[in-house]
Amino acid sequence: MKNDIHDLGLVLDSKSKLLLIESWDEPRVLETLTGLAVKRGLALQMWSVTEGLRRLGFAVEAPVDSETLEPETALRLIKADPLPTLYVMCDLHPFLDDNPKLVRLLKEIAMNELPGKPTVVLVSHACKLPVEVQRYASRFQLSLPSENELMSIVRDEATAWSARNRNARVRTDNRTLQQVVKNLRGLSHAESRTLARNVICNDGAITQEDLPELNKTKFQLLDLDGVLSFEYDTARFAEVGGLANLKRWLGERQGIFLEGKGVDLPKGVLLVGVQGGGKSLAAKAIAGLWGLPLLRLDFACLYNKFFGETERNLREALKLAEQMSPCVLWMDEIEKGLASGDHDDGVSQRVLGTLLTWMAERKSPVFMVATANVISRLPPELMRKGRFDELFFIDLPDATVRAEIFRIHLLRRDLDAGAFDLPQLAAVSDGFSGAEIEQAVVSALYAAQAQQVAVSQAVLVQNIQSTAPLSVVMAEDLAALRAWANGRTVSAG
Ligand SMILES: Nc1ncnc2c1ncn2[C@@H]1O[C@H](COP(=O)(O)OP(=O)(O)O)[C@@H](O)[C@H]1O
Ligand SMILES: [Mg+2]
Repeated sequence: MKNDIHDLGLVLDSKSKLLLIESWDEPRVLETLTGLAVKRGLALQMWSVTEGLRRLGFAVEAPVDSETLEPETALRLIKADPLPTLYVMCDLHPFLDDNPKLVRLLKEIAMNELPGKPTVVLVSHACKLPVEVQRYASRFQLSLPSENELMSIVRDEATAWSARNRNARVRTDNRTLQQVVKNLRGLSHAESRTLARNVICNDGAITQEDLPELNKTKFQLLDLDGVLSFEYDTARFAEVGGLANLKRWLGERQGIFLEGKGVDLPKGVLLVGVQGGGKSLAAKAIAGLWGLPLLRLDFACLYNKFFGETERNLREALKLAEQMSPCVLWMDEIEKGLASGDHDDGVSQRVLGTLLTWMAERKSPVFMVATANVISRLPPELMRKGRFDELFFIDLPDATVRAEIFRIHLLRRDLDAGAFDLPQLAAVSDGFSGAEIEQAVVSALYAAQAQQVAVSQAVLVQNIQSTAPLSVVMAEDLAALRAWANGRTVSAG
């Protein structure tokens, strides 16, 4: 907090009269500002729509001055203040929309850069300033707790728990404690304290079993209304047939990535290929393999929900992913989100720009996995060397891999894979994708159930033969995809 006070002081010295602090941790913002006011010998006043204007820092609560509940009255009083008072305005942002008078007042206060004039600090969880005042405003971000601070927060909570429980000691081991501290990164002081308390309170212990719940709660705290979602359902690579090249590539990078440091941190991969080829499955398996949280960016949601604020929300989502790092960030079917011409007014172009900038500049260990079914509309900028570490092409499985996929899906449904002639199944399912193989197993299961018999080789073969795979129906598309991939991508299989 000392550093925050110091840095805020620098902002004041820069003569800025309008400050914006976006934070969910209002108490801490107020605490920091109080610290600054004390240090500088400034008067401090707070405004909110429920309390109006009132002086902070006095033990006796002043009565509410109901006239100043009105933002306009409050701002007029502030403007007329001849002293360099610090005014904190909590949640003024909803009033600024479509209110030229308030915006103008704010601008007049901000323009008066003479020393000795008041300063307004806007505090909201999020706030988009009207353009009129944007260039007068300085933004300030409260620092998040360091790992040392997080460690002492956890220790504090452990001590407090002991005191409440007849001095029983909180059970944990060093490794788990370190992991908890790492996973609290990105949260504010208040949030990490609450989470640490939750972890300890249920059983007086900090154990590995606390981690998934902790990650989930953390994600909910940071959540961004659905643009980014936390996928609970990661997969194991044991459940993915084929893709030997991709698996090897990932295996070679696992150590470096989990280390989380260095200039050559793996950045991510683009998986291109036929529908049902296991791209989404592979994305989940990467998170599963590396034991990391899997975050999925939903483009449809990005464009729909926050119409007009798309890029800002993308930036927020990417920031959130960095806060959740180390993690896997999954962008499924990016052609739907990034193809040019889909969203008018060049929004998709700007979204692409935002994404590319982030990809080039990010420092945190966020491994990006993007998938695409259709390449003709993918922006070429995205494919340029250096954006992704590698572009993998997922083709239809060959006979060996098809046999493997049959085995995986038979086993998954508690069928004895050894009782089937897998090479024969592989032979009759030429041209099938992984998804179609799974589908054949499922239909065979239903058919057998209906006839009240066990799933047999014959039932399965019959099911396969009655299906026309997509690769036959869409042979031309597949040929075009292969031609494109040739020379541009590396085979995943
Ligand atoms: N290589 C594979 N190994 C095992 N199962 C597969 C494979 N490819 C596809 N499947 C099955 O098909 C389902 C759908 O595949 P999916 O990953 O959604 O394909 P894509 O994203 O490429 O369209 C998967 O959840 C999985 O059950
Ligand atoms: Mg998919």
